[in-house]
Amino acid sequence: MSISTLTLNDGNQVPWIAFGTGTALFQQDAQDAVKTAIANGFTHLDGAQMYENEESLGVGIKASGMPRSALFITTKLHRLQPDQTAKSALQVSLKKLGVEYVDLYLVHVPDHHAGRLKEVWKSMEECKREGLSKSIGVSNFEVEHLEEILEGAEFPPSVNQVEIHPYVWKSLQPVIALHKQHNIVTSSFAGLSPIFRAPGGPLDPVIEKIRARLESTRGEPVSAGHVLNKWLEQYGILVVTTSSKADRMREYLDTANVPRLTAEEIESIEIAGAQRHQKFFVCLIT
Ligand SMILES: NC(=O)c1ccc[n+]([C@@H]2O[C@H](COP(=O)([O-])OP(=O)(O)OC[C@H]3O[C@@H](n4cnc5c(N)ncnc54)[C@H](OP(=O)(O)O)[C@@H]3O)[C@@H](O)[C@H]2O)c1
Repeated sequence: MSISTLTLNDGNQVPWIAFGTGTALFQQDAQDAVKTAIANGFTHLDGAQMYENEESLGVGIKASGMPRSALFITTKLHRLQPDQTAKSALQVSLKKLGVEYVDLYLVHVPDHHAGRLKEVWKSMEECKREGLSKSIGVSNFEVEHLEEILEGAEFPPSVNQVEIHPYVWKSLQPVIALHKQHNIVTSSFAGLSPIFRAPGGPLDPVIEKIRARLESTRGEPVSAGHVLNKWLEQYGILVVTTSSKADRMREYLDTANVPRLTAEEIESIEIAGAQRHQKFFVCLIT
């Protein structure tokens, strides 16, 4: 099954769903999980220097037997050491990953570069110009951070990867509006949080009602996770997820085959989501 793509503001294409090597795989060997994810259909792998497992991500990629050109590899810049730049940090990542280029390089956390964001972005632009990364972007950026690097940028960021689920949707509207203005693809992580990090919330009965409707329309099983990932997919949001289980990996990719949510169902998710504000990743500045 081929995975649909989103078009970035530099003309490159990105598969709409990625397999992540953070969270459950943070500082863990990612080789087997990555190999399993690729064998089950994932082509976009989301890594980061902070996860301290780029070597095993690279080994998993090699072991998959997939040609480099069929894969989309993302990594993210961590804090800079005094003698480092975004470019020299990427060169280290490329060695660890065992590849000549990545497809997407993101500034992971803006607060890691407080007061130096413009300078860091210049080095990110150099990575793109020199082909070390096909596209460049950011993560966890709020409006003020984006405005700082957009001013005078040669290349605007192509992606901003942020925590997205219905319990933060309302608070994200200003940053999403800025993404639209600059054709920045909105990318999500922690999308399934309402169902397994915070069960019992106002969203649960709404998700269950939609899940049951989709299952009866489809005539095949539909999960709560399908509903949340479908909601993201319909907005054209790039989904970054992960799993330790092959079945669940296939379920995530099967989101594309789930019937579309109606406008009323989308509205009901957002109304229920707005009843609670809960962010799960707030300690990213270490
Ligand atoms: N840029 C950033 O700052 C940032 C921050 C956080 C994460 N990320 C990226 O995003 C990736 C995914 O993050 P995430 O873990 O938050 O994604 P997620 O899609 O919200 O959650 C995936 C997790 O959900 C579990 N899960 C799925 N359905 C479930 C169910 N019905 N019941 C119980 N558990 C269920 C999976 O566990 P099983 O193993 O049991 O399937 C898996 O560990 C990370 O690996 C990383 O690459 C980026």
